Amino acid sequence: MENESSEESLGRKHPGVEREYRNSEIAVYWEPKLCTHVGNCFRGLPLVFQPQVRPWVLVNAGSAEDIARVVMTCPTGALHFERLDGGEQEPEPDETTVKVQVNGPLYLRGKVRIVGPGNHLIREDTRVALCRCGHSNNKPFCDGSHFRVKFDTQV
Ligand code: FES
Repeated sequence: MENESSEESLGRKHPGVEREYRNSEIAVYWEPKLCTHVGNCFRGLPLVFQPQVRPWVLVNAGSAEDIARVVMTCPTGALHFERLDGGEQEPEPDETTVKVQVNGPLYLRGKVRIVGPGNHLIREDTRVALCRCGHSNNKPFCDGSHFRVKFDTQV
């Protein structure tokens, strides 16, 4: 089910969520502003994540276990899930790591808390992609613009 409800009515963790897909076992939340089309989702579960169709997340086409596992491979935090069947929620990692992507963003994993001027909380998440090319229209997050500008880090 694709839910077009307002943010407030969705009871979700992040305010940027624009789509919710759910059945009785799992809810999948998608924040398109953070999606850089890395593709781990549709490569991991092609029957569930189908970018060419609407709704593009078919939660009945896979087990809640598999969907949760694949959602956690999303490096930008655009996808999150909530188990509604008593299954394990996404664990908060003990350590925080920063992975430098060749010609791309910084992938952070862990207990990430990003604050702006005046200690304004921008985001708290377990998975974040930060722009390092300088061309994102959604700073400090990567929005995939590094592809457009052919960002070249040489490493
Ligand atoms: S690194 Fe992706 S938009 Fe800058």
